Amino acid sequence: MLFLNFIVLTLFVAEASGRDVVKGTDIPPPPEPEPITITELPLPPVTSNDAEGGCTFDVNPHGTGCIGQAWTEFQSGAFLPDGLHVTVTVTFTGAPAAPDSASIFTGVQLILVKIDGSTFSNGDAWKCITCGVPEKNTVGRSLTMDYPQTFVDGKRLLVGTNIIECTSNLINAACTPDQVHIYPIRWNTTTNATGPGGNIRELRIHPDNVHLGFNAFTIINGKMGQYGYMGRLQFNPFPTWGTPLSPRYDLVNVYRLYDPSALQPITVDRDNSSLLHINPQSIVVGELRGFGGTGREVTYIGYPVESSNIDVFAADLTTGKVRRLTSHPEYVDPLDISPDDQWTVVMDTRGSGRQMFMAGMRGIPPLTDIVSSSAASSTRNNGPRRFFQPYLIDYYGDRNAYFGQKINAAGDRSPGSINDPEWNGMADPKWSPDGTRIVYWQSHTVPPACGGINPLVCYNSTAPGGRHYRLMLAHLISRTPLKPQVVEPISDVVPWGVKYEPGSSIPALAYPPAGKYVLLGKHSGWANVTLINNNAGTMIGTVSVVYHDFSDDGLNILTGSEEVRMNSPSPTVTEVDWFSDLVQTGPNNSKKTTSPDGFHLSIDVLINIFDATGTLTTTINGTTYYQPANGT
Ligand SMILES: *[C@@H]1O[C@H](CO)[C@@H](O)[C@H](O)[C@H]1NC(C)=O
Ligand SMILES: *[C@@H]1O[C@H](CO)[C@@H](O)[C@H](O)[C@H]1NC(C)=O
Ligand SMILES: *[C@@H]1O[C@H](CO)[C@@H](O)[C@H](O)[C@H]1NC(C)=O
Ligand SMILES: *[C@@H]1O[C@H](CO)[C@@H](O)[C@H](O)[C@H]1NC(C)=O
Ligand SMILES: *[C@@H]1O[C@H](CO)[C@@H](O)[C@H](O)[C@H]1NC(C)=O
Ligand SMILES: *[C@@H]1O[C@H](CO)[C@@H](O)[C@H](O)[C@H]1NC(C)=O
Ligand SMILES: *[C@@H]1O[C@H](CO)[C@@H](O)[C@H](O)[C@H]1NC(C)=O
Repeated sequence: MLFLNFIVLTLFVAEASGRDVVKGTDIPPPPEPEPITITELPLPPVTSNDAEGGCTFDVNPHGTGCIGQAWTEFQSGAFLPDGLHVTVTVTFTGAPAAPDSASIFTGVQLILVKIDGSTFSNGDAWKCITCGVPEKNTVGRSLTMDYPQTFVDGKRLLVGTNIIECTSNLINAACTPDQVHIYPIRWNTTTNATGPGGNIRELRIHPDNVHLGFNAFTIINGKMGQYGYMGRLQFNPFPTWGTPLSPRYDLVNVYRLYDPSALQPITVDRDNSSLLHINPQSIVVGELRGFGGTGREVTYIGYPVESSNIDVFAADLTTGKVRRLTSHPEYVDPLDISPDDQWTVVMDTRGSGRQMFMAGMRGIPPLTDIVSSSAASSTRNNGPRRFFQPYLIDYYGDRNAYFGQKINAAGDRSPGSINDPEWNGMADPKWSPDGTRIVYWQSHTVPPACGGINPLVCYNSTAPGGRHYRLMLAHLISRTPLKPQVVEPISDVVPWGVKYEPGSSIPALAYPPAGKYVLLGKHSGWANVTLINNNAGTMIGTVSVVYHDFSDDGLNILTGSEEVRMNSPSPTVTEVDWFSDLVQTGPNNSKKTTSPDGFHLSIDVLINIFDATGTLTTTINGTTYYQPANGT
């Protein structure tokens, strides 16, 4: 289920004081580009033979394991508090059979990698933490090993839905496998004492090291969705409730970061039942993505502020004040905020042109998104191939012509270069504790995302051993290191969230009921909006909008119509029938049109293979953006 990592579904949300911020008078001009150098970090040696014993002493004379050429399970995580080591999940392969001492270097494991060119005492630049941990130390652990993150005590790690703990600092020679424990994390979701608790995914440690953010899928009205949550981690050495009945961390005082009774993204006027309002200041955490460096804010993918434009936001955990971190029309999701909150690093499809055909026209109210946001988010990938690259954006976000700084811009784009577009950015990039470095990783484009019917040529990997994944380090060489900070524990209470009660039902997102409405432009004009239920009558299935000289800013004027119908033949498959005939006049002079028979897309949000009939095309100020060809 690797590709679950970045999913975002219809459930989103939210908001944004972004517009106000940018219009405010105290917004500084965008920063000048800064000098950045990129280095590649070492990984264990690569064997081309995954069979038992394929990791020979020729390949690794130290007998400390080999990794494979293919990207199976791999993910870079975070810096240890010393800023000199990063956590990485790798898949060891080709290990000899037991009792060979190298037999422990097998399967998915957590390693530490040194970033400064130095080595551990055995001469390796890495150290495996989980290899050879005795089974008695891992009772009840889950097999998930994604998003390896670090605690400031230097002894603990978060990996998948487990916490790894060593009796001494992880980098010390004294931290041997028998000193390591792996404890599962349990979310109590039942009112009886049986069962394993709720499924949690995409876990993120809060910088106070006491709270945990996570996500959980829902299936409501036959469609998959998701909410974000925050709870406190509490070690339970002798559980008596639920499984596993082994030492574990319980999540207590869990808050769902969505309140169906709070202000929603789209609402009906209190006094006039035909009038709609768009509320960019509402909060719906569709997928939690982490926390700000000082821990004040939670970051998430929210309900779009502009139609088909998937962005990331930060909400203050106390006040609920929302900051729109990105506004570029393309898709973004992995992100990390710097320790001092002043910078955001994102993985974004911006610059690739991938989704401009759908999202390029700016300032369309997010109305069809009630039914079209799954399609907008899932067209970002071609199967496992992502179109992400890392970008650095300041506190105030994208504005005017500023769309951040591409971190790995330098290079000649040749195969294997730093900016080779066939090396795709992956989740998550992470800041060093002193704010002067960012670690990220990339995967190489392989068939069927290149070659065959795809016009994209497949290149051999130039990475060591021909592997198809690499670990990169960006050095922000002009920056002064930040002082180490201690983040005091925050309150368990999220005032704008809802305390989760075990056994309680999960609400659907609250949209206006089916009907005919009017949305007034903030400056002039209006839109007639029709919301129609699906055949089963369970939720809105069609959104139809006709714009009449609609203008929010008095500069851009929108006319024409857009209609999207959505059907979910299974919880993860979205089918949309899309009709656009929009013209925007003003500084941007753009057009968004479908072929006469409409644009029809069917896509599985977990698989992400583009498969459409008909066309959807956007032209902005003379540049035309086309949809990807099917299967590419
Ligand atoms: C425990 O609760 C869950 C849901 O709350 C229910 O599905 C299950 O049947 C219950 N088990 C027992 C033994 O009562
Ligand atoms: C799980 O929730 C139930 C119902 O609120 C509660 O009685 C029980 O103590 C909880 N168990 C744990 C381990 O938190
Ligand atoms: C409600 O809003 C619509 C659209 O602006 C307007 O035409 C209508 O007069 C309003 N009705 C009332 C009672 O204000
Ligand atoms: C129009 O284009 C400008 C320049 O790219 C951009 O700043 C602005 O956000 C665009 N969109 C709208 C609705 O104005
Ligand atoms: C890739 O490597 C193989 C084996 O070495 C070679 O046959 C092939 O020509 C290479 N392909 C490209 C595109 O360089
Ligand atoms: C569209 O909205 C306008 C303005 O409120 C209203 O006069 C008109 O009747 C609406 N048209 C339709 C087809 O609902
Ligand atoms: C549109 O294109 C013209 C000519 O290339 C350029 O001068 C203008 O700045 C562009 N407008 C925007 C909003 O980007």
